[in-house]
Amino acid sequence: MQDITRYYIKNPDNCFWVAEAEVNGRPLVVGMVAVEGKILPNSDGKKVGELFRMNVSSKCRHTGVGSRLGQTVVDFCKERGFSKIGLHTSSLQKAAIFLYYKMGFKLVQTHTDCKCPWWITMLIRINILQMEKVI
Ligand SMILES: CC(C)(COP(=O)(O)OP(=O)(O)OC[C@H]1O[C@@H](n2cnc3c(N)ncnc32)[C@H](O)[C@@H]1OP(=O)(O)O)[C@@H](O)C(=O)NCCC(=O)NCCS
Repeated sequence: MQDITRYYIKNPDNCFWVAEAEVNGRPLVVGMVAVEGKILPNSDGKKVGELFRMNVSSKCRHTGVGSRLGQTVVDFCKERGFSKIGLHTSSLQKAAIFLYYKMGFKLVQTHTDCKCPWWITMLIRINILQMEKVI
């Protein structure tokens, strides 16, 4: 995030998008999403896209912005010839899970390994969901 141009824009397999809306005649950022192209081990050199940083401003949710951002990622990954798109989300992010299922993502794996301390994971019963969409 500190150098979006170098990390996302100059690498043809990565990208970063923002959604803008005009509010009182001024452009306002209302959403964002990023994708990173990578070659996974044992994948015969096939590239996959990793979707992350999906976020829509709380005032603009459930108006189709997240779907448009998601579709933008799908179109980009198809153009780059990636075989699938992967992402991680958590059981707390209900709207995101619905959105990803609606876009055709499938649940691949759930686990509890995350960056927060184990006792937080236990306390709030958080699960990490790994999802994929073959394109
Ligand atoms: C997840 C998020 C990006 C969805 O963006 P959005 O612009 O509200 O999504 P859309 O308006 O395009 O909705 C598309 C679908 O998502 C699901 N959805 C969106 N908001 C929902 C909600 N509050 N509850 C349940 N499902 C919801 C629905 O399936 C919806 O389809 P529908 O309109 O036919 O019901 C947004 O809620 C958000 O930024 N959440 C916080 C950050 C986050 O969790 N990011 C994901 C990180 S992995």
